[in-house]
Amino acid sequence: MKRILVIYYTQTGQAKQALNAVLKPFEENQNYKIDYECIKPKKTFPYPWTYTEFFDAFPETVHGIPCELEPLTIDITTNYDLIIIAYQPWFLSICVPISSFLQSTEVKQLLANKPVITIINCRNMWLGAQEKMKQRLLNINATLIGNITFVDRSSNLVSLITVLAFVLKGTKEKFMGIFPKYGVTKKDLTHAPIFGKIIMDNIENDQLQNIQPQLNQQGALDIRGNLLIMEGRGKALFPLYANYISKKGTQGSEQRKMRVRIFGIVLPTVILIISPIITIISRLAPIIAKKKFKKEIAYYSQNTLRKN
Ligand SMILES: Cc1cc2nc3c(=O)[nH]c(=O)nc-3n(C[C@H](O)[C@H](O)[C@H](O)COP(=O)(O)O)c2cc1C
Repeated sequence: MKRILVIYYTQTGQAKQALNAVLKPFEENQNYKIDYECIKPKKTFPYPWTYTEFFDAFPETVHGIPCELEPLTIDITTNYDLIIIAYQPWFLSICVPISSFLQSTEVKQLLANKPVITIINCRNMWLGAQEKMKQRLLNINATLIGNITFVDRSSNLVSLITVLAFVLKGTKEKFMGIFPKYGVTKKDLTHAPIFGKIIMDNIENDQLQNIQPQLNQQGALDIRGNLLIMEGRGKALFPLYANYISKKGTQGSEQRKMRVRIFGIVLPTVILIISPIITIISRLAPIIAKKKFKKEIAYYSQNTLRKN
């Protein structure tokens, strides 16, 4: 019998829905036993978030500063055959609970020299977070063999509005009755067991290198040109702004509230303004810089880390 460990975090259940869908073939196969470990911070992150709480989480998330976690419930001496990590990007970085797990004392024992598959559920921007994931896995000697993403299928501006309603107001149905429902769609969940089947078949045949290319053929990764460019900007600017806020104080402190509030206005405004400009650039980019663009998309479609 093969044993799978699933490490996940979820605030509203979308990650668990994605997991259930992908892992359906494994659940139906008696040769596999799955252990689920939901990562729980000692101090729960709020849902819905207040505006200030949400943007106040930005600096520590970007800097990868861990929070305290509740003890794991699994037996960490178990020799798992496959590890699955399901997570959400927060501010183009790994969400704090999973980032904290990846820095915990137990992580090496569980993950070192093990094949890992990541399942991401998010609005639409996961490239930067996954780069950080690649680095963290490299640090603990784990091998990333597959990545599957579940994204909101609306345009960037529409999902900017619906995600804010989702996280700040807790709106799970159509915002104001007119916007599309935020998040992972039923259609994508119905399609997802095929990803599990690909993983299982290749594990059975010991062809782990085939997993990502076959997942890609089934649409496991959604890499949009405009978002690729936009994330590049964020990657350069976010650490600077995170430092600017951190300088004033630690998470939750009164002293940095002013800077957090400014960020809370500046970030959505900047996205609103530059989104259409970047969309135009991204339409031109494949024409002007065809090779480079293709190379970038190919890079983010695979699981090794770029050498700088
Ligand atoms: C603090 C915070 C930051 C977020 N940042 C991003 C982001 O950078 N990119 C993205 O695509 N989605 C982002 N999101 C949206 C989450 O991915 C979304 O809340 C997630 O799909 C919910 O998953 P869950 O139901 O499993 O908790 C963010 C959400 C939160 C709460």
